Amino acid sequence: MRMIEIEKVREVIGQNPADKASLIAVLQDIQKEFHYLPQMALKEAADYMGVPLSKVYSAATFYKAFSLKPRGEKIVRVCKGTACHIKGADLILEQLETGLGIKAGETSEDLKFTIEIVNCVGACAMAPVMIVNDKYHGNVRVDKALKLVKKD
Ligand code: FES
Repeated sequence: MRMIEIEKVREVIGQNPADKASLIAVLQDIQKEFHYLPQMALKEAADYMGVPLSKVYSAATFYKAFSLKPRGEKIVRVCKGTACHIKGADLILEQLETGLGIKAGETSEDLKFTIEIVNCVGACAMAPVMIVNDKYHGNVRVDKALKLVKKD
């Protein structure tokens, strides 16, 4: 598991004004740097901005873009909507889970990968669809899915 260093946390937080109006920007910066919001970083942020920790937590849990659980550098989303399901989404997911050693919803120990299942992402014409961070891959071949994720 990657160590989160306090100096790095302070540096990231310190890019913003020490004011409660910075709350969301600070959370975004922490999430961007660490791919999730470590508890220790939330405490630091609260102290820095002079905001109660409870308020920091409620913002952190309100927005879906934030995660309190460690997430991988690469978020791999497999669409399991109807069109993708028919075209083999289950097999793609199975290959990724086996290859990366984690189940859907989990993050690898080295914090490199997170697998998530999503519903139709509106790209059925190119089913089956897989999204690596923000990059869409259509017509994914089952035997190529893992390779694609690793090189992307
Ligand atoms: S079902 Fe996968 S994009 Fe629509």
